[in-house]
Amino acid sequence: MAMATGQLVVLLAVVAVAHASVFLSGQKLKPRFQRDRRNIRPNIILILTDDQDIELGSMLVMNKTRRIMEQGGTHFSNAFVTTPMCCPSRSSLLTGKYAHNHNTYTNNENCSSPSWQAQHEPRTFGVYLNNTGYRTAFFGKYLNEYNGSYIPPGWREWVGMVKNSRFYNYTICRNGVREKHGFDYSQVCI
Ligand SMILES: *[C@@H]1O[C@H](CO)[C@@H](O)[C@H](O)[C@H]1NC(C)=O
Ligand SMILES: *[C@@H]1O[C@H](CO)[C@@H](O)[C@H](O)[C@H]1NC(C)=O
Ligand SMILES: *[C@@H]1O[C@H](CO)[C@@H](O)[C@H](O)[C@H]1NC(C)=O
Ligand SMILES: *[C@@H]1O[C@H](CO)[C@@H](O)[C@H](O)[C@H]1NC(C)=O
Ligand SMILES: *[C@@H]1O[C@H](CO)[C@@H](O)[C@H](O)[C@H]1NC(C)=O
Repeated sequence: MAMATGQLVVLLAVVAVAHASVFLSGQKLKPRFQRDRRNIRPNIILILTDDQDIELGSMLVMNKTRRIMEQGGTHFSNAFVTTPMCCPSRSSLLTGKYAHNHNTYTNNENCSSPSWQAQHEPRTFGVYLNNTGYRTAFFGKYLNEYNGSYIPPGWREWVGMVKNSRFYNYTICRNGVREKHGFDYSQVCI
């Protein structure tokens, strides 16, 4: 997802955990495990990274990550995103909609706008996962214009970055409370 500001690599991690008891194994729990079979749902971890396109060559400096993610998972060698721009693409990922349906065409206009908040944000996959009993959590960059004044619906644990990504002097919204971080790397980032 290209951003005008350059080669920032931003990690967004979304975690959805189904009821833990369903996943416990072992003899003692087996009957219950079998009883609950219809309710078995996988845990889901979705990691979104920015700007890792061929042109930037950014994956070349992340060989270890590639090893873990590609070899431990699936590599889509012919995948496409419909609108490779930060906020429109993030809005599509959250809603499953094309940009012409969620109306976020740029990284500012309609990015986290009142109309997005009213029409589309209540229908993100976070909301649907939570409604079916998943415990949901969101960590990292959200939408470029998200200003940290509220917790988007659906997320039970929310640590969202305010506005666009930056390495230092950023603010996050931690479950509704704005939290400033400074510029001493060893203190704020580790
Ligand atoms: C990662 O691997 C590629 C070849 O697959 C190599 O060109 C590149 O230098 C490696 N990067 C690092 C940081 O080791
Ligand atoms: C913002 O979204 C609304 C409705 O979702 C749409 O009517 C409007 O044209 C959009 N604005 C821009 C600048 O795209
Ligand atoms: C954040 O945005 C909302 C509308 O989306 C607005 O009502 C509020 O005043 C803004 N807060 C700040 C601190 O900019
Ligand atoms: C999650 O879903 C439950 C049950 O539908 C609801 O009561 C709760 O408000 C939702 N939580 C969030 C953060 O959306
Ligand atoms: C962060 O803020 C401090 C104090 O205002 C300033 O000295 C520093 O240059 C800022 N760093 C960056 C990378 O913006």
